[in-house]
Amino acid sequence: MKKYFFPLVKNPYRSKDIFKAIKVLKTGKLTMGTNVLNFEKEFSSKLKTNYSLMVNSGSSANLLAIQCLINPYRKKRLKIGDEIIIPSLCWSTSLWPIVQSGLKPIFVDIDKETLNMNLTDLEKRITKRTKGIMLVHVLGNSTDMTKLLKIKKKYKLILIEDTCESLGAQYKSKFLGTFGEFSSYSFYASHQISSGEGGMICCKDKSDYEIIKSLRSHGWSRNLSNEKKISNNNPHLDKRFIFYNSGFNLRPTEIAGAIGRSQFKDLFKFKKIRNLNRRNIINLFKKNKKINKTIKVIKPNKFVNPSWFGLPLIVNKKNLLKNIMLKLEKNGIETRPIISGNFLKQPSVKKYGLIKKIKYKNADYINNHGFFIGLPFNKIKLNILKKIEQSFQKSV
Ligand SMILES: Cc1ncc(COP(=O)(O)O)c(C=O)c1O
Repeated sequence: MKKYFFPLVKNPYRSKDIFKAIKVLKTGKLTMGTNVLNFEKEFSSKLKTNYSLMVNSGSSANLLAIQCLINPYRKKRLKIGDEIIIPSLCWSTSLWPIVQSGLKPIFVDIDKETLNMNLTDLEKRITKRTKGIMLVHVLGNSTDMTKLLKIKKKYKLILIEDTCESLGAQYKSKFLGTFGEFSSYSFYASHQISSGEGGMICCKDKSDYEIIKSLRSHGWSRNLSNEKKISNNNPHLDKRFIFYNSGFNLRPTEIAGAIGRSQFKDLFKFKKIRNLNRRNIINLFKKNKKINKTIKVIKPNKFVNPSWFGLPLIVNKKNLLKNIMLKLEKNGIETRPIISGNFLKQPSVKKYGLIKKIKYKNADYINNHGFFIGLPFNKIKLNILKKIEQSFQKSV
């Protein structure tokens, strides 16, 4: 494996996180339990979400949100072919649950200054069949939420916030992920906090919460608020094994619950240090003429108090991106595309016949000019900052 002096992510687990995991291991009960339950409660209380359920990944959270929308127990259920709007700069599993659930994704362009959904393009793509928006908050930043909420209200759209990259970010002091009917978070290793793999799905409505809870665990009636009633209505069944809904098994392990909970306690400490690291790198870039001429930093959008886990950068000059990324990698800095660039360029999208003739100019621009480097949750030491500057100096 290649050795970087500045990787995208270092081992994110501290002794106290590992200790919590060992404690769970010693109980012999690794399946979802009190740590997961307490994590969900603490998550709701800190971020002010109505209902939170932990799952085994951010992808599972997106899948559950979309599956809930088409579920027969939902009063206003979406129908096959209903349209969901999604930015062309998105992750694989922001998109695929829409298609896998028989809904139709409608792609819109982004703003290259914020990496987030372009709201003029969004409004242009709304049709009579548009029922919802899968909004992706990219890398701790967000679009203009005031304007977005106006559009949501005007067209009566359901909002799903894919907040997998933006845990702890705020828009006008309100946490991203608390604006829509549903939101998803990811605790993957490189994200704001990590539980190894893991995620959270939040929703506004109690009835959606009940559907998601059942879908998460095989479709079971266990722990639903109407569990008793379901059991009374089905006296021919063992009340512990009643399958009330269709289902998946998307539950997290108790170990993930314990690690996630331990990391979540320090979310705002991590956010603060990452912001400081970001400022320190930017200050170095500003003072270096060569770097400053070639590299532009993505800034937080107006009213956004961002929560970064990476530093998204733009190469100002044409056709230089690949070369610069290669050189940075050679000089010890790990890099990667912004999300996965314009997702419409992926072979899977072509295979499923989703490609349209429409040009997504800004997503293409980010695809061809953007990349990001990591931002650790520990303060970057001065000697490493110097090395970062030297590597960039040699690479641009
Ligand atoms: C925007 C976005 N949505 C969803 C996901 C999926 O999260 P997970 O890796 O936890 O499944 C990711 C993963 O990085 C992501 O970037």
